[in-house]
Amino acid sequence: MSKKLKIGLFGFGCVGQGLYHVLNNSTGFKADIAKIAVKNKTKPRIVGKELITYDKWEILNNPEIDVVVELIDDAEEAFHIVSEALKKGKHVVTANKKLLATHLEELYRLQQENNVSLLYEASACGSIPIIRSLEEYFDNEELEKVSGIFNGTTNYILTKTIAEKLSYANALKQAQDKGFAESDPTNDVEGFDAKFKAVIIALHAFGLIIKQEEVLNIGITTLHENDIKYASEKGYKIKLTPIIQRLDDDKVSVFVAPRFIKEHNHLYNVDNEFNGVIVEGKFSGEQFLQGRGAGSYPTGAAVLSDISALSHGYKYEFKKYAQKHAPTFTNDVVIEAYFRYNNNDDLKQIIFDEISEKYTSKDYHYVVGKVNLTHLIANRDYILKNNLFISLVDEKVSLAKEESKKTVFKKELVSY
Ligand code: HSE
Repeated sequence: MSKKLKIGLFGFGCVGQGLYHVLNNSTGFKADIAKIAVKNKTKPRIVGKELITYDKWEILNNPEIDVVVELIDDAEEAFHIVSEALKKGKHVVTANKKLLATHLEELYRLQQENNVSLLYEASACGSIPIIRSLEEYFDNEELEKVSGIFNGTTNYILTKTIAEKLSYANALKQAQDKGFAESDPTNDVEGFDAKFKAVIIALHAFGLIIKQEEVLNIGITTLHENDIKYASEKGYKIKLTPIIQRLDDDKVSVFVAPRFIKEHNHLYNVDNEFNGVIVEGKFSGEQFLQGRGAGSYPTGAAVLSDISALSHGYKYEFKKYAQKHAPTFTNDVVIEAYFRYNNNDDLKQIIFDEISEKYTSKDYHYVVGKVNLTHLIANRDYILKNNLFISLVDEKVSLAKEESKKTVFKKELVSY
């Protein structure tokens, strides 16, 4: 039997209003929004002022409110609100990926200790039910890889600038106007947002809690006309793609970088603000989910789905995290990438091996070769500062020690 819930809502911006609309137009499921806590006292609101409060304790201390829905921007304030709510025995639904990726372990512990539910489907890939799929459908299957397009804003910018020749500034402005971009869009375009989502997904796909600061995110801010030309001449599209992959020795690597996508890949036709997730299971093989990754109503719908699940007493089980033999996280992997550089100093700074392609002219230089992820992490600032561009050409990720074994083997063959 489902229970009619009383909701205390924090934040009434793009997603908050989306939820309000979706909830009011839901024919099946009903829940009451008892109070909405907001910060800005001067902003006009689409709801009556009896619903609005500026005091968070009016929600947190109200024993009649069973669910806190947290949809604010500030991750640290959100952490405070969510922790207090969980400690007071309230269930929580949040869409805040930065909050989750930064405090995953504490929040996991708090919801276990207080025997309440913390749900966050809307935090990763908007309307795509990826977390519930991983929790409920793939809970017992060993997964090989989860990858895809996890950020709507960058996908929108890449689609509009490359296919429709819009300027970067205009495309970003449109993404902001349509409510796709973060309030600080650096989070989108430098790959932070996609990384936060990858960290959340890694917990449900592989049972791993990873420190988000240790995960590499390279964004699209340094993309140049020459890179676009290179990609289109080879028939590639450019997408920003997180890759979460199991390697030998039960290691998992996680990172976010631009990638050249070939036409046969599912992600090739995922354009605009759409997201796509490819889940690869040991036995089930490849599955592909596509949906709206950003925007008021799709994200509001994902929040509503969590609220509805709560009314049936739903809770994540975190089965893979609870397992004794969860894999460990590593950055010591080798990837194959295209690297546009300015001069030989850049090539000395960022060392590529097994170079399969090299081009230099007066004002355009690139190599395609193999590079260790730890090396890119150490040089992330250098890449940004010098306007260099990196893009994966192949989604294959190998453990560095396996790569070095191959090199030794090749050398042995040569000497033989
Ligand atoms: N800024 C995010 C995006 C919003 O563009 O994907 C949805 O998480």
